[in-house]
Amino acid sequence: MVSVLFSPISIKGLPLANRLMRSATFEQIAAKDGDVSPKELDLYRDLAAGGVGLIITGIINVCEQGRISPRQNSLSTDGHIPGMARLASEVHGQGGKVAVQLFHAGRESARMHAWRGGGPAAGPSALPGEAHFPYENRAMTQEEILQVVDDFGKAAGRAKEAGYDGVQVHGAHAYLLGQFLSPHTNHRQDEWGGSLSNRLRLHLEILAAIRAQVGPDYPVMFKLGVADGFEGGLPLEEGLKAAELLAQAGCDCLEISQGLRGDNYEQSEFHTKVDRPGGEAYFRSWAAKVKQRVDIPVAAVGGVRTPEIAEEILARGEADLVALSRPLISEPSLPARWQKGDTARTRCISCNKCFELVLQGRHISCIFDRQESANKV
Ligand SMILES: Cc1cc2nc3c(=O)[nH]c(=O)nc-3n(C[C@H](O)[C@H](O)[C@H](O)COP(=O)(O)O)c2cc1C
Repeated sequence: MVSVLFSPISIKGLPLANRLMRSATFEQIAAKDGDVSPKELDLYRDLAAGGVGLIITGIINVCEQGRISPRQNSLSTDGHIPGMARLASEVHGQGGKVAVQLFHAGRESARMHAWRGGGPAAGPSALPGEAHFPYENRAMTQEEILQVVDDFGKAAGRAKEAGYDGVQVHGAHAYLLGQFLSPHTNHRQDEWGGSLSNRLRLHLEILAAIRAQVGPDYPVMFKLGVADGFEGGLPLEEGLKAAELLAQAGCDCLEISQGLRGDNYEQSEFHTKVDRPGGEAYFRSWAAKVKQRVDIPVAAVGGVRTPEIAEEILARGEADLVALSRPLISEPSLPARWQKGDTARTRCISCNKCFELVLQGRHISCIFDRQESANKV
C-alpha cells in the first residue's frame, strides 16, 4: 500500500517528513516561573525521536493575565527566550520540527486570578459562573483587547527568535478566542461582538499583529473550534465561515477542533467512546467541510487511533494532516512504530486520566505507565 501518512508535506515552505502532527498538549511540567524544565527537554526529545512530522507545544502564555497554571511555559517576556530556545533545539537535534501554541485563557484564568488574590478574570463579556465553571468574570476593556493583540504579536516574534519553525494560535476549546467567537460568551455591543465578522475580529487582528512581527514567510497557524459542544453555542456554519475568513486573511494551516465545552467529555474535545465503531476521528467531517472551502493545509484532530483511519482521512482528501494528542502521551514513538509496519492501534484508551491529572495540578502521564511503575514497587 502507498502510504499518504508517511509522505512529506510543507506548510508555508516548512518541509515536514510526514502528515502526523502532535496536537498541542499541556503537560504541566514547566518550572514554576514558566521557564523550560529538564523534564520538558526529555519529553520533547522523546516526541521528536518518535517520528511525528510536526510538534505543536502545549499552551504557551502570551501575558500573565492569560495564564491558566503556574506550571505553564511563557513567551510573555524576552527573558523566556533562552529557555524556549533550548526546547526548540532539543527537537531540532532529533531532526524534528516544532511550533509554539500561543495562548490566552480569557475567563478560564479565573483560578489563577483567585490564587494570586486578584480580581475576577476578564473575557469578552461580564458573565456569572455556570454549573461546570463556577467563576464570574468581567468584560475586557477596549484597551485590554488591544493589549492582548499586541501580546500575541510580540510572543510570536519571540517564538521566531527562539528558533521555532512556526506558531499556532489557540483559537479552540474554552479559551479567550473561543470565548470571543461564541455568541454564548460574547455579548458585546461594540465592534468586538454581534456579527460573525465582529466576533472574529480578535482572531484577525492577532493574525495581522503576528504577521507584522514574523514577516510574510513564517508559518502562522490556527487551531480553530468550528462549533461549540452544546445547543445554542457557535453553530457549525459560522465556524466554517470563520475558517474561510482566516485562510483568506493569510493563515497558513488550520487544525479543526471544537469550540466551547458542554457539561461532559462527549460535549468536549476529549471524547471517550473512541473505540466504538464510528467513534474514531470524531471531528473529521468538520475538517472535511473546511478543506472544501480553503486552499491551505487542514489538520484533522480528535480521536484518531489507527493508521487505517488516518490514511483514509488523507486519501479521501478530508484533511492534509492528522493530529494526535492522547496517543502520543501514551506512546511518543507511535509514528515510528506505525511507519515500521507495526500498525496495531495505539494503546491509548481515551480514558482521560491524563487530562484529569492536569486538572488536579499534577504532571501529565499515561495511566498505563503509572500502573507499570506501581507494579514494579
Ligand atoms: C492532557 C491534555 C492536554 C491538552 N492540552 C492542550 C493544549 O495545550 N492545547 C490545545 O489546543 N489542546 C490541548 N489538548 C487537546 C488535544 O490537543 C486534542 O485536541 C484532543 O485531546 C483530541 O485529540 P486526541 O483524541 O488525539 O487526544 C489537550 C489534551 C489533553 C488530553
